[in-house]
Amino acid sequence: MIQFHHVYKTYQGPVHALRDINLDIKKGDFVFLTGPSGAGKTTLFKLLSAYDKPTTGKVKVAGYDLDQIDAKDVPYYRRKIGVVFQDFKLLRDYNIFDNVALPLTILGQTGAQIKKKVHSALDLVGLNHRWDFYPEQISGGEKQRVAIARALIHQPELLIADEPTGNLDPDLSDEIMSLFDKINAQGTTLVVATHDHSYINRRQKQHIRLKEGTLVV
Ligand SMILES: Nc1ncnc2c1ncn2[C@@H]1O[C@H](COP(=O)(O)OP(=O)(O)OP(=O)(O)O)[C@@H](O)[C@H]1O
Ligand SMILES: [Mg+2]
Repeated sequence: MIQFHHVYKTYQGPVHALRDINLDIKKGDFVFLTGPSGAGKTTLFKLLSAYDKPTTGKVKVAGYDLDQIDAKDVPYYRRKIGVVFQDFKLLRDYNIFDNVALPLTILGQTGAQIKKKVHSALDLVGLNHRWDFYPEQISGGEKQRVAIARALIHQPELLIADEPTGNLDPDLSDEIMSLFDKINAQGTTLVVATHDHSYINRRQKQHIRLKEGTLVV
């Protein structure tokens, strides 16, 4: 599902954000990514989501060569993956239903088709009963569940989440991690960046550690 081959990312400075990263993540894997602040986690997610290209090296995800992807192909690639952010990124003037529907309405889909997909995504995250609420009317954990429903709307093969529980208290973090387990059990590949080592120890998932831009074994 994900292959990195001698990937480097250097920003102006120069800042060596990633150095010689090699990865092979298989379909159906659930991988945790950890590392101190500045280690390169978000940089790695930017490469995975085709927001940025490596300085050198090869990045292959879901059949796409992201190190040389054409700008016109990026929207198609993005429909194959789901992305979840630390700060949810919900639109406050849209209700929950419309927030989840957004990736579909952008594509011009309407009516019954959207309704079915949105309600099934909201069902998965346990929030169908809140479909007509607005983001300010729901809790942090619920907001993140809405963001996850939105990320799943295209039924992606891969879900990536950059510190999805960073703004949540421990109970709500537990809830989100259980939801990820459920999504993984349905066959979706997951890569989740987290500072919280308790999850990794408890769950015995694959664990990738970054330190100063390099992989630590
Ligand atoms: N656009 C940029 N231009 C220059 N340097 C950058 C840029 N983005 C990130 N960096 C640098 O690259 C390094 C890795 O940053 P990154 O955001 O990937 O770390 P991180 O592991 O996500 O940290 P955190 O846990 O704080 O989110 C840092 O030294 C950072 O300052
Ligand atoms: Mg980060």
